[in-house]
Amino acid sequence: MTTAKEAFDPRSAPLAEVTSVDPADARIAAEFRIDEIPRPAAGKGQPASLRPTEQQMDLWRSPRMREVREFIREAASVDVTVLVTGETGTGKDVVARGIHQLSPRRAGLFVKVNCAAMPRELLETELFGHERGAFTGAHQLKIGKFEAAHGGTIFLDEIGDLHPALQGKLLHVLQDGEFARLGGKSTLKVDVRTIAATNQDLERAVAEGRFRQDLYYRLNVIQIKVPPLRERVEEIPALVNYFVEVYARRFHREAFTLSPAALDNLLRQPYPGNVRELENLVKRMIVLGENSVHRAGPAPAWDGAPPSQHAPVPDGSALSLRDLVRQTSRAREREIISQVLEHTGWNRVRSAKALKISYRALLYKMKQFGLNGHRSRWRPL
Ligand SMILES: Nc1ncnc2c1ncn2[C@@H]1O[C@H](COP(=O)(O)OP(=O)(O)OP(=O)(O)O)[C@@H](O)[C@H]1O
Ligand SMILES: [Mg+2]
Repeated sequence: MTTAKEAFDPRSAPLAEVTSVDPADARIAAEFRIDEIPRPAAGKGQPASLRPTEQQMDLWRSPRMREVREFIREAASVDVTVLVTGETGTGKDVVARGIHQLSPRRAGLFVKVNCAAMPRELLETELFGHERGAFTGAHQLKIGKFEAAHGGTIFLDEIGDLHPALQGKLLHVLQDGEFARLGGKSTLKVDVRTIAATNQDLERAVAEGRFRQDLYYRLNVIQIKVPPLRERVEEIPALVNYFVEVYARRFHREAFTLSPAALDNLLRQPYPGNVRELENLVKRMIVLGENSVHRAGPAPAWDGAPPSQHAPVPDGSALSLRDLVRQTSRAREREIISQVLEHTGWNRVRSAKALKISYRALLYKMKQFGLNGHRSRWRPL
């Protein structure tokens, strides 16, 4: 069978089709994006939460992050693959969006795909699309994310979790810009810049045979390492101001101000969940009052002690019984998940089975609770 090779023409794949998402995909996407700040185009008079990435990058005041900004500027100007690494919640998404927005591709789409968020088969069609009738249930043609990103940037998040069967296919696309939709006879060619991100040690994954070495080299043309928040604590005050501004408005608590003591407390936290954890603490202070942070056990590693020691005790404070119960049960939930992960050696498939929840639900909860990698919760940083 000969394969017809044809240049991809976006005009023959109208945007309405490119962006159409079937309900199952939309459900999964919604499930995994609920903790992200929506960032439509900003404009005058719009809430601060709609600020563009450049404004978030302006908060990078530490020498380490100024270096990162320089790297971004350089990487943006050359059309090469970039690998963004760093612990969870450090700002890898912000870096990827920054590269796109500073690059000549900024007028094109920035298309994000979470490689860990869905089963292999679904991810394959998500990335490469499928023809109508490609498999049972494929009632209509689906345009993949690589096609959708034509002329723009594709951001492959959590690349370390990419299923081995898809690693070879991705390598081929990166090398030649070519692929076929599932069930398709034509080879499509796209002009896409790829940025990948991971909080895993990919070199170790290569050494352990979990990640293809050739793909690693292909992705790792330029690597941007995003340092953890504990190595750039001087950014905390500016970040706190930013989050207070965003969330006080969003939660209709415009009068909220943070006391110096509360800020001081925030400066002393260890932040294994990095900027995301700080963001969540500020959100909580705005909603529950700033004392909620002193009492909070459940949020990611408060001071290194087990959350049960921090179980909130009613002390006549402003917190309702319902809030206290919710905090306690979240602390317990995090503790149980953490223990099961430790028990299975951080094998997420086995952990999900043991907990009797779906794999996707486990990934979501791990992200929510700042449980990542092989690091034990209680080990000092
Ligand atoms: N410089 C910043 N200014 C404002 N918000 C930031 C900044 N850096 C990170 N954030 C916020 O912190 C949260 C985590 O950032 P981001 O999603 O970029 O981290 P990540 O490294 O991609 O995390 P993960 O490994 O879990 O995917 C997001 O809500 C993001 O908006
Ligand atoms: Mg991310």
